[in-house]
Amino acid sequence: MSKGLYLVKILVQFMSVKTLQKELGYTKYTLGERLSYYEPSKNISQKTFAQELSQSIKQKQKSINPKFFYNEKGSELFEKICVLPEYYLTRTEISLLKQIDGKLQSYLDGDFRLVELGSGSAQKTRLLIDMLTRLQKHVEYFPIDISKILKNSSTVLQSDYKKLHITGIIDNYENGLEFVKNYDDMKNLIVFLGSSLGNFDPESGIIFLQKINSSMKKGDLFLVGLDLVKDKDVLCQAYNDSQGITAQFNLNILSRINSELGGNFDTSKFVHYAVYNENQNKIEMYLRSLVKQTVKIPNADLMLEIDEDELIHTENSHKYTISQIEQMFAITGYEIQAMWNDDNRYYSLILLSKK
Ligand code: AVJ
Repeated sequence: MSKGLYLVKILVQFMSVKTLQKELGYTKYTLGERLSYYEPSKNISQKTFAQELSQSIKQKQKSINPKFFYNEKGSELFEKICVLPEYYLTRTEISLLKQIDGKLQSYLDGDFRLVELGSGSAQKTRLLIDMLTRLQKHVEYFPIDISKILKNSSTVLQSDYKKLHITGIIDNYENGLEFVKNYDDMKNLIVFLGSSLGNFDPESGIIFLQKINSSMKKGDLFLVGLDLVKDKDVLCQAYNDSQGITAQFNLNILSRINSELGGNFDTSKFVHYAVYNENQNKIEMYLRSLVKQTVKIPNADLMLEIDEDELIHTENSHKYTISQIEQMFAITGYEIQAMWNDDNRYYSLILLSKK
């Protein structure tokens, strides 16, 4: 690359970071030579929480977006869900990642940066970082997560991996992807694990996959983990665990509204309810009100009338068939490079490139 071009490149990078900081109100925190992260200022994130909540909870079917589960307590509870005996998803995905390690490697020509959507505690990420550190001199990791858990998980990672350079972004996927787009010309391996795509309804999932596709360059790869359609009882148990952790996780969203938006939800007046919708292949999660009640959420300007037995929708978790998967990626601009399933056909890892 010529010196001039190099300077332009640096300038563009610098400007895009500046724009991001200014327009979206990010603050950059540098925690060391190999670790920095961007975080939106507090009042901005609280404002979007209030705005989005007041929109969705005013509808006839009251709902709360599942991305709001993940405050500190919620992220902690989700970590507990991941190791529950009934919650086969995490365990199955980890064993698949271990199995394909050598095979995945053969699809990587040259150095890749790891970009992760919804990195969470970054436990599974370690398997991928292990692989990249074996193959590359220098490894960059770019976690995107709405939860502040990113700070801790990144700090631990950087001290465990001396070759690792981390730039995190604490925000939703959309804003994180904007950051990745046109960042530089290093190849990205984007990973989206845990069947988190399942939170999107089919139409918005398509839009989201297109959004990821448009942030990819030719040569980039995309690895997705998806939960497959299976026996109804297995699915129902995974979302109705015997220890009641999923119930706590679900109810915690109300406590979060109380603490962040001044709400007065009495969590003892709601119960966790999860069912499998066989027509649409999805688990639906709700909070059911035990009584007729009024709830105030001053910082979102809300006064809610809730009936006895009324359901507040908190999550959809879609399950996929192989043919749905093939179709979904075909219409969103991808080519399937490989698909790996476990022996039970409970779960699938799909490696994609941009068509
Ligand atoms: C993180 C969205 C994949 O849908 O299985 C776990 C969240 N909800 N138990 C899922 C969740 C209840 C999880 N995802």
